[in-house]
Amino acid sequence: MNNFVFYSPTEFVFGRETEMQAGALARKHGARKVMIVYGGGSVVRSGLLDRVKQSLQEAGIEFCEMGGIQPNPVDTKVYEGIDICRREQVDMMLPVGGGSVIDTAKAIAAGVLYEGDFWDFFIGKAQVTKALKVAVVLTIPAAGSEGSGNSVITKTDTLQKLSLRAPEVLRPVFSIMNPELTFTLPPFQTACGIADMMVHIMERYFTNTPEVEISDRLCEGTLMAIIKMAYCVKQNPNDYNARANVMWCGNIAHNGTCGIGCEEDWASHFLEHEVSAIYNVTHGAGLSVIVPAWMTFMAEHNPKKIAQFATRVLGVPESEDLEEMALAGVSRLKFFFRYMGLPVNFKELGIENPDIDRLADSLHRNKGEFVGNYVKLTKQDSKEIYRLAL
Ligand code: NZQ
Ligand code: ZN
Repeated sequence: MNNFVFYSPTEFVFGRETEMQAGALARKHGARKVMIVYGGGSVVRSGLLDRVKQSLQEAGIEFCEMGGIQPNPVDTKVYEGIDICRREQVDMMLPVGGGSVIDTAKAIAAGVLYEGDFWDFFIGKAQVTKALKVAVVLTIPAAGSEGSGNSVITKTDTLQKLSLRAPEVLRPVFSIMNPELTFTLPPFQTACGIADMMVHIMERYFTNTPEVEISDRLCEGTLMAIIKMAYCVKQNPNDYNARANVMWCGNIAHNGTCGIGCEEDWASHFLEHEVSAIYNVTHGAGLSVIVPAWMTFMAEHNPKKIAQFATRVLGVPESEDLEEMALAGVSRLKFFFRYMGLPVNFKELGIENPDIDRLADSLHRNKGEFVGNYVKLTKQDSKEIYRLAL
């Protein structure tokens, strides 16, 4: 097991009607004026936004707001938000939504207190040392941004989709998680969220670091719980307990515990971010296409952990032929994704002829000569994985 630092200061407030505590929690965490950030309107239609505002008013917290964040969030809304925050003297961000809304709020939180361009943080030109506090009301279990210190933003003019990692300053001070809020999710969004959280675990599980039994078992157990609960949610979208389990799994998947002591991979995410940056597809659906292709490549080049995943998580019988076991695992994973209504190749994703050269060029321009750790991918390897996803 490798050395590690695990810092997770977020206060999670989980359960029915917990959004009504937003105001009291904001006050407890020292807010005077918050900026509510939300997306394309689901929180308006559900009445959630009004309930959050009511809670803030009751607690005597002032607020301003910015809506209209689109999935695969872009830099322009970050600049807009930074201007509003400075003008309104906001001291806490309160995104009400999913990863796109939360990540926009985090980027604003970092940008407000920085004199330069917030994009400097995403290209590694500057480090985030201070930021406004971020607090969350989560509406979709998927990105895990409610418990992570990460933000993923796309630059509109270059179509670079990059992530920023600043756990010491950008982890939310509190996250409100009410599973009932997820009843209104369309089945496709539910499925995309499930794929995303599964892959957050797999990026950590597929490691060459030896003797990480605790992380392995945490990953395997959480993956099995997600799959079981996914079937329940598919059959009954209003099953509170299944929704609750899925919601908490989404947090476990990405708050860092699953990767403790491991060298993590993340190649599948980087391969996917190019796809969602260029073709604007839903991140989880991009992953359900890329990950089986990545695993197929790994079945040939480094099958050990893929085979372990296949047998322990998906019940593939053990055999001496690790490549065969790994490929059987890929088949079972694709079957599960398809059952959930997810695409497993580019065509099903709606991209007939992906520009593989452009995807791979952009990936290695953004991420360097080698991508990932489980096998360090060259540009040729990345192209092969994209081809395996056709
Ligand atoms: O915009 P509204 O109208 O709210 O609709 C949203 C949006 O269309 C809808 N939705 C959310 N909650 C709902 C709901 N519809 C009905 N009822 C509800 N309760 O769902 C759609 C997707 O929302 P989005 O925020 O985009 O989803 P998600 O949480 O999957 O976030 C995806 C973004 O997060 C990034 C992805 O790349 C993508 O840009 N990621 C962020 C990470 C992080 N910060 O750590 C890690 C991830 O790997 C990921 O890259
Ligand atoms: Zn993800």
